[in-house]
Amino acid sequence: MADNDSLTEGKRFAPSVPPRTEPYPLKGSSGLDWGMQNRLARIFRPATGRTVMLAIDHGYFQGPTTGLERVDLSIVPLLSYADALMATRGILRSSMPPASGTPFVLRASGGPSILKELSDEQLAVSMEDAARLNASAVAVQVFIGGEHETQSVCNMTRLVDQSQRYGIPVLAVTAVGKELTRDARYLRLATRICAELGAHVVKTYYCAEDFDTVAAACPVPLVMAGGKKLPELDALTMAYRATNEGAAGVDMGRNIFQSADPVAMIRAVGAVVHESLKPQAAYDRFLRSQS
Ligand code: R5P
Repeated sequence: MADNDSLTEGKRFAPSVPPRTEPYPLKGSSGLDWGMQNRLARIFRPATGRTVMLAIDHGYFQGPTTGLERVDLSIVPLLSYADALMATRGILRSSMPPASGTPFVLRASGGPSILKELSDEQLAVSMEDAARLNASAVAVQVFIGGEHETQSVCNMTRLVDQSQRYGIPVLAVTAVGKELTRDARYLRLATRICAELGAHVVKTYYCAEDFDTVAAACPVPLVMAGGKKLPELDALTMAYRATNEGAAGVDMGRNIFQSADPVAMIRAVGAVVHESLKPQAAYDRFLRSQS
């Protein structure tokens, strides 16, 4: 216990020095509570305002996806190269080392498998459990134009209400059904609805034309979804274009863990996202660093 006898008068008040404040300049986050900003700053590197998120949550609707059969073997070696991991609570608790230090975004919706209508999701995690797991954000699928559009939007808004109480940001994942076109018009609609209804971050696909208008119309950070496996140079080109056109990073899965060399690939993606390395240069780096 502090001893009153040795109390001295403080002198370091520096009255002429204005208080130092270091705002966290992530798009759309200045009005958020400190805890929210602190969690977002774990995901989006303060130095670049961008993230390389590694998505490995595929099993929540499609079981043991190629590359994720044994996440202890395939994913743990990638953790130190990711700014954040996107995963289910089952995989976190069973297979991810709690001491890895990599922040994670917790998959919080689910229900239907690939054998059923995918838009028929419900919330699948309580915010209390997300807090218990120390999640840096929670992720929910939103199916704009899908069969269960309203239900999925309500999943998101319920999660946002809970997130405000706990200070855990919500990442809305705009899911695109087979029948929907991934053009800028659709992506502007889907991403803007998510942001308007309270999502703190939105994940969406890249579109070759006018992606910059999708990013500009979304008042919170957009992260680009990877999608199906592409040749490495194509995936790096897509990541470069998306970040160059306004995305605050990527949330990629198959294009990293299904790569011929996942470590070399995630490092190349990191160079594109954080150093704005051109795609060909990043690809050359990928080839050089293959183990
Ligand atoms: C999106 O629907 C889910 O979060 C996926 O499991 C994941 O994000 C997909 O990642 P990728 O398309 O890059 O493999």
